[in-house]
Amino acid sequence: MGRVYNFSAGPAVLPEEVLKEAAEEMMDYRGCGMSVMEMSHRSKTYQTIIDEAEADLRELIGIPDNYKVLFLQGGASQQFAMIPMNLMKNKVADYIVTGQWAKKAWQEASKYGKANKIASSEDKTFSYIPDCSDLPVSEDADYVYICENNTIYGTKFKTLPDTKGKTLVADVSSCFLSEPVDITKYGVMYGGVQKNIGPAGVVIDIIREDLITEDVLPGTPTMLQYKTHSDAGSLYNTPPAYGIYICGKVFKWLKKMGGLAAVKELNEKKAAILYDYLDESRLFKGTVRREDRSLMNVPFITGSEELDAKFVKEAKEAGLESLKGHRSVGGMRASIYNAMPVAGVEKLVEFMKKFEAENV
Ligand SMILES: Cc1ncc(COP(=O)(O)O)c(C=O)c1O
Repeated sequence: MGRVYNFSAGPAVLPEEVLKEAAEEMMDYRGCGMSVMEMSHRSKTYQTIIDEAEADLRELIGIPDNYKVLFLQGGASQQFAMIPMNLMKNKVADYIVTGQWAKKAWQEASKYGKANKIASSEDKTFSYIPDCSDLPVSEDADYVYICENNTIYGTKFKTLPDTKGKTLVADVSSCFLSEPVDITKYGVMYGGVQKNIGPAGVVIDIIREDLITEDVLPGTPTMLQYKTHSDAGSLYNTPPAYGIYICGKVFKWLKKMGGLAAVKELNEKKAAILYDYLDESRLFKGTVRREDRSLMNVPFITGSEELDAKFVKEAKEAGLESLKGHRSVGGMRASIYNAMPVAGVEKLVEFMKKFEAENV
């Protein structure tokens, strides 16, 4: 069987070019006689791999010297605890709850201090981004937290909240490197890489240097202190070495595509193909308020659970995989990350049109 178009929300599609290169290097990485999977993380060869990955990421985003880049483990979910443990100096933080992941982060932070929910869109199944232009930001908040792209619900912050001078912390797991960003607006930007960048097992944190201190909550384990990993260049212990190597290849692929501005243009083109069709379809409907639509995750429904199930099944038979929506939204969800080719989205829409003609 050949490769399918994989619309999974994560782990997700990776660039074929990257997978092929990794396959070529599997048995013998550039004359080393071994795979990167088998290589000491203390070797000179591996040091070059991780250094190049960091340098390419810095170039792609335009990360200034006063920000550290950390390659960590534990998934994005571990950051839900690491963030309060490391940043809650006053034991107060404000959370904007725009979906399940933001909610989990907020609940986790509540274990460590006063985590205030200062805005939410739960009243309408997280189908929109609340107005964040004049929030009741707490005087003594250590940071304001957002989940910038909500994977399950398909919403995205198009403008960042006004944090009234407080440090912004953002989970960008499902929009990482999908468009240019001004990193100086963030104190911490982090994400699991298994959606837009690489294999599961790596989390990337980009943190402003002054936020990395020894002044953490009492009892914070060594492994959960940003300073531990920052001081050791992400090599305090054995890192997710193979995953970082693949991330590095994806960074090079993105550079070759022309960088994040070019990537954004392509992502907008792909999303428009799908959203334009959803807006005119007599069968399928998008579930998100138009101005808050994500470029990466596109949920849609037919209004009939039976038809939704039939669609997912027939789409799979046509080589369009993992289109079933999250159980809290129902229906379908197409995740169209950076590595999804335009042809994949075109094929999906073509299939949707055919399904509409047969079922309306
Ligand atoms: C936005 C967002 N944050 C956090 C997570 C949790 O990531 P992990 O499974 O790496 O802990 C996900 C996962 O799917 C996600 O989409």
